[in-house]
Amino acid sequence: MSIFRADLDALAAARLLRHLTPLEDGARPWLTHEGRRYLNVSSSNYLGLADHPAVVTAAIESLRREGFGGGGSCLVTGHHPAHAALEQALAAHLKMPASLVFAAGYQTNVGVLSALAGPADIIFADALNHASLIDGCRLSRAAVRVYRHADPDHLASLLAAAPRTGRRLIVTDGVFSMDGDVAPLPALLELAARYEALLVVDDAHGFGVLGREGGGLPEHVGRAGAVPVLIGTLSKAAGLQGGYVASDPDTIHYLVNKARGFVFATGLVAPIARAAVAALTVIRQEPERRMRLWQKARRLRETLTALGYTLAPTPYPEIPIVAILVGAAEAAVAFAAALRDHGIWATAIRPPSVPPGTSRIRLTVMATQDDRDWTDALGVFEALAPRYHSWRAAALAAQPTPVASPSGPES
Ligand SMILES: Cc1ncc(COP(=O)(O)O)c(C=O)c1O
Repeated sequence: MSIFRADLDALAAARLLRHLTPLEDGARPWLTHEGRRYLNVSSSNYLGLADHPAVVTAAIESLRREGFGGGGSCLVTGHHPAHAALEQALAAHLKMPASLVFAAGYQTNVGVLSALAGPADIIFADALNHASLIDGCRLSRAAVRVYRHADPDHLASLLAAAPRTGRRLIVTDGVFSMDGDVAPLPALLELAARYEALLVVDDAHGFGVLGREGGGLPEHVGRAGAVPVLIGTLSKAAGLQGGYVASDPDTIHYLVNKARGFVFATGLVAPIARAAVAALTVIRQEPERRMRLWQKARRLRETLTALGYTLAPTPYPEIPIVAILVGAAEAAVAFAAALRDHGIWATAIRPPSVPPGTSRIRLTVMATQDDRDWTDALGVFEALAPRYHSWRAAALAAQPTPVASPSGPES
């Protein structure tokens, strides 16, 4: 028996044990599990680009012509013209001077943060930052001061109290992956300027989704090009895989030399880089996808609220992440199972992805979903509302004041 058996048993007893489940079509509006079809309300393929013909064709043509990879890290033999083309296209799309592509979003956050800060520095981090940002902060060995979620006043007080030696970084998600709310970007930019801190924003869930042209949260709030270090991933709205950081040319050149997740890892395979360039074109040239997404997300929020569901609040109801707060992990699992019985594939999100006492059902919307399918799904939510209300009431009675945990979400 493995030395980890007792830990697995403890997770199971706390209803926190997870299992891998093989799914077909996990990025499509309907997925298949063990021969049964489910409405997919859990995918981050927000714009439906994972199987867009232009994106798929770009990858196939590249694969035929160029094969898979560069056979080494980008500083050895791996820096392919496809990377250079993607880096240029990303920088232009984000209205930033330069960018650098990594093999994954997780790797980008860990690589960038551990390069930008060191033991003599201080990182000011939002309490609900994504796990990959938290891990990057830890790996940097900088002192970390956690500010209350999206609270610029608390951040200001921590900045004012901190010593003025070393570098200061403010690190936050752009759109928060488990709540669907956002960082207060204008206030953070102002504080960064006032306290000479470097603002680092991971806009993994804003990229392609927010902004008239899909430039993400900065464009949505009228500050495109203003975030000095803007990180994102190609695994969500672009429907692919990989991560990027956009910044000024010196910072990018510094990261080429210092970000270990870049220096010591094989780069993204060329067909994905070519597909990402095609995805960027679709993101810009098919704004109707974004409009459909926003309209569906607003409708979902409005209907669930009218049915009495408690949703994580957001200033932008067009964000396609809708978190139904349940409370106890066990109740969230029961809710997900009930949805599954009705043909809806929603995942129960539990600690450590979210703070204890705030387990939830996290719904995501895709532009390519049929409105009639959502009408049927909302009928299921209406039927399940009484059960939800009793789970929620029990959770509130047991845990009246949920507290924030710094362990961070994971997807
Ligand atoms: C906010 C955020 N940052 C980074 C990542 C990691 O990106 P990737 O899946 O591309 O590694 C994720 C999710 O996967 C995320 O939600």
